[in-house]
This record gives sequence, C-alpha cells and structure tokens, in this order.
Amino acid sequence: MNKFDKIINRKNTNCCKWDLLGEDILPLWVADMDFEVCPPIKDALIEVASHGVYGYTLLPDSYYESFMDWQKKRNNWKIEKEWISFSPGIVPAINMLVRALTQTGDKVILQTPVYYPFYKAVINNGAQILKNPLKLVNHQYEMDFDDLEEKAKDPRACLLILCSPHNPVGRVWNKEELERLGNICIKNDVMVISDEIHSDLIYKGYKHIPFSSITKEFSEISISCLSPSKTFNIAGLQISTIVIPNSKIRTKFNNVLENNFLTMPNIFGVKAYEAAYKEGESWLEELMEYLSDNLEFLYEFIEKKLPKVKVIKPQGTYLVWLDFTELKLTKNELKELMLKKAKVFLDEGYIFGAEGEGYERINIACPRSILEEALNRIEKALNSIS
Ligand SMILES: Cc1ncc(COP(=O)(O)O)c(C=O)c1O
Repeated sequence: MNKFDKIINRKNTNCCKWDLLGEDILPLWVADMDFEVCPPIKDALIEVASHGVYGYTLLPDSYYESFMDWQKKRNNWKIEKEWISFSPGIVPAINMLVRALTQTGDKVILQTPVYYPFYKAVINNGAQILKNPLKLVNHQYEMDFDDLEEKAKDPRACLLILCSPHNPVGRVWNKEELERLGNICIKNDVMVISDEIHSDLIYKGYKHIPFSSITKEFSEISISCLSPSKTFNIAGLQISTIVIPNSKIRTKFNNVLENNFLTMPNIFGVKAYEAAYKEGESWLEELMEYLSDNLEFLYEFIEKKLPKVKVIKPQGTYLVWLDFTELKLTKNELKELMLKKAKVFLDEGYIFGAEGEGYERINIACPRSILEEALNRIEKALNSIS
C-alpha cells in the first residue's frame, strides 16, 4: 500500500478541514492535505516536544540557510539573507503589506477569480480592488494583458497581488507571461506581491519561476511570499517567509512587524520548517507522484461518469477548478447540491469572485479512496437531478 493511501482520522482534533461541518459531510475544501507529514518533520517536532520547555524563540541562522538553499537548488534563485523577513503566515503578511504600502483609496490589482482572502486584504486595509480578470481560452486560463495595461495606468493603482501558481485555476505562469506582467508593472510604478505558497507543487512538464528572480528590476518591485506550509502540510505551525530585496519596501514591512511584536516564531514551527527544507525533498517527489495519479483518477472519473462537468487541468497545486456551468444552476442551487445532496464540501467557486460562479474547487490531496467516495457522491447527486 502507498503511504499516501493511509486514512488518518482527523475528526475531533480541532481540525479546521474536518471539524467545521457535520459528521456526514466529506470535506475536500481548504488547502490542507490529509497525509501524515514526512518523518524528518515529525522527528524534529518530537525532539522539541520532549525537551519540555517552550519559551520565546529566536530565528536561528539555519532558518535563513535552509530556505536560501532550497530556493537556490530548486529554482536557481539566489537570495540574500538580509532580504528575508519572517511572518507567522502569508495572509497576515499580505494584510500588513497592503497597509504598509498603500494610502487610503489606492488601488490593488487582483487577477480574478482568485484566492478569496486577497479581497479582504485589500478592502480591510483601506485600499480598493481593481480587477484584471483572467481569460478562459480552450479550457485554460490566461492573463489579459490588454486589460492589465489599462488598469495599471490608473494613477491610484500601486500594487498587484500575483498568485503564482494561481489558486484556484492551477496555472503555473511561464516566463513570457511573468515578463509581460513585470514590464507593465515597472512601466506604471506598480509593486508586485508574488504569493508563491504553492510553488513547490508543480506537475511534470511545468516549471515554477520566482517572479523576483527574473531580473534585478523585477526584484526591486517585488515582495515574494513563501512557506513550506502547503508543500509539507504544516500550516498549523504558522511559519512563512517574505523576501523583499528593495530596502525601502523592506523597511516599511519590517516596521509593521516590529510594531506588532511579530518577530518571534513558534518554537515548533521553526524546527519543522528547517526539517522540511533540509530533508523533505524526496518525500515531496513521492507526494507529487501520488497527486499526479489522483489527478488522472479524477480526469478519468469525470470523463466517464460526470460528462457535464469540465475540468480545468492544473499545472501545479493540489486544487482543481471544476466547471459545473453546463448544469445551469444558481450559486445557491449548486451549493445545496454539493452540501445537502452529495454531502461533500468543496469550495464554492463564487467565493473566489463573480467569475467563479458555477465552479467548484476540489482539493485532491487526500487518500484516493476518499477522492473516489467524494466523486461517487457527486455522481449520485447529479444523477438525482437530471
Ligand atoms: C494562494 C494562497 N496564499 C496563502 C495561503 C495561506 O497562507 P497562510 O496560511 O500562510 O496564511 C493559501 C492557503 O490556501 C493560499 O492558497
């Protein structure tokens, strides 16, 4: 048996994914995997736990080194230690960045449909959203550069949040796309927050390119957000890394961190982070094979048994964007169908923006038997209404 086939009961563990909804609902929503962590992470955590003292914790040099080595090895991205800031999470960091880098009423460009906390990060921090919707061309999403040229010209546009790879549509942006985006942003004085939290989860045939690594000019306008939390499923340990080569932008961000006393990591998080980046790579390769097989399973199931549903094939991430628009259901009808009839909880497409209405995002990072059960339930529910 493959180790990723093992079912681990997460119910009644304060688990956000499994304990938020009723007992009978199968959850394939939030970006959280149902797999056990790789042994080096577990061992590192046991070592910290067995020490028995859990006081305030410093960021050791090995925190910086493990991250810089990982990025150099996997993406040939050479990062200097002084560019790195710690953050407990990427969503909190994006919120702090919007606050630090915009004035009230400034505009932040989002490429929609997109990860829903981006919307709140803009609005809750006094800025306005400027949408640059993605275009769906032959079952794959693309950036709309003509629209971006126009939006970036807006004198109040000062920031763009790039989701790379993109959640929920699964695109791994290629170099040409990133270059076009970066050049438009440079020309119009727009800074780029590049959220690369999913960048280790890339399928065969695709390559992640860190936005900041492309040219020196790109690095000067960029803020890159990274973490092993999706790759190794350690989001509950709350540790991430923000890379800001431009010293003026970095000072603004670090001031917010210091003013909020957010400079010290969780003692468990820092050890897990290092273990992941230093010793987790072979486990990650096995994970990607399992996820690829889950994807194939999903494609085949949908093609044979759910012909009205279309899959937007992801190039990275374990999140898959499913098109249910052929069913012509309202957003509430589709939600009811999933939750009440099928008794599965996927993320409703509309929460990613109006462009997502009629879509559902499914998380395939679970044992295949759970994925199969969820798809069987969806098939039964769809048959009951057709
Ligand atoms: C694009 C993206 N950014 C950030 C996060 C969450 O980051 P954090 O848990 O570090 O706040 C997620 C989680 O799903 C995500 O998909």
